[in-house]
Amino acid sequence: MRLYAISDLHLGIPANRAALEALPSFPDDWLIVAGDVGETQAHLQLCLDVLTRRFAQVIWVPGNHDLWTVLGETLRGVAKYQRLVEICRAYGVLTPEDAYVRWPGAGPPTLIAPLFMLYDYTLAPLGLDPAAALEWAAAADTICADEHVLWPDPYPSRAAWCQARCAATAARLEQIDPAFHTILVSHFPLHPATVWLPAIPRFSIWCGTVLTRDWHLRFRARAVVSGHLHIPMSRVIDGVRFEEVSFGHPQQRRFHALQPCLREILPGPQL
Ligand SMILES: [Fe+2]
Ligand SMILES: [Fe+2]
Repeated sequence: MRLYAISDLHLGIPANRAALEALPSFPDDWLIVAGDVGETQAHLQLCLDVLTRRFAQVIWVPGNHDLWTVLGETLRGVAKYQRLVEICRAYGVLTPEDAYVRWPGAGPPTLIAPLFMLYDYTLAPLGLDPAAALEWAAAADTICADEHVLWPDPYPSRAAWCQARCAATAARLEQIDPAFHTILVSHFPLHPATVWLPAIPRFSIWCGTVLTRDWHLRFRARAVVSGHLHIPMSRVIDGVRFEEVSFGHPQQRRFHALQPCLREILPGPQL
């Protein structure tokens, strides 16, 4: 059995919906869906309707687009997140609110940890507070649509929501038996060095937080899975695999079918 990962399915795009529906079955394998399924509850339901029939187990984390309040959606912030978690649970899909599950395949004991931390504008030049970081990005004509449609309610800001999620998540990860390794799964990159955005470098402030930069070592990761950048890539940092697994927009990718874009996480390449 294998553990695969994909992210950024963006099912509001008709070509991406067609690619999802054309995906064959992997009845023995598990799939990580690392956020940005789409913008609405219906996008998540469509996604899970298909993928829970194609894979033995699906694991989900939210992306920023999933948390938008657009296209007739009314729930905001934490309320929208909680509704998406309820949809996942109705399909038997694991979320950041569930107990970390042990990978049943071969290899050292490993827990799969779906995480939700968002971003806090700290991936900017040192010393900039969030307001100054936004000005720095705006000076290069860079702004993320989240500023208009991703509400942090009831938190006062997305940065405050991020910092609360980081503290609670680190406390949970600290409880893992040290005999276990982890697969850390987050829509947003965990390590600043993996935030590589050559066309829009100042978009980095919407791409995570410095608070997670040592989590791959601190929590004994065998691999770290993320999306969000729409630039699929595999890198090794400190001996740990970092896998950016975006499907993304049709004009951004070499392959139009979904299957060649699935990334094998476990057993994975032998390093
Ligand atoms: Fe995306
Ligand atoms: Fe994203």
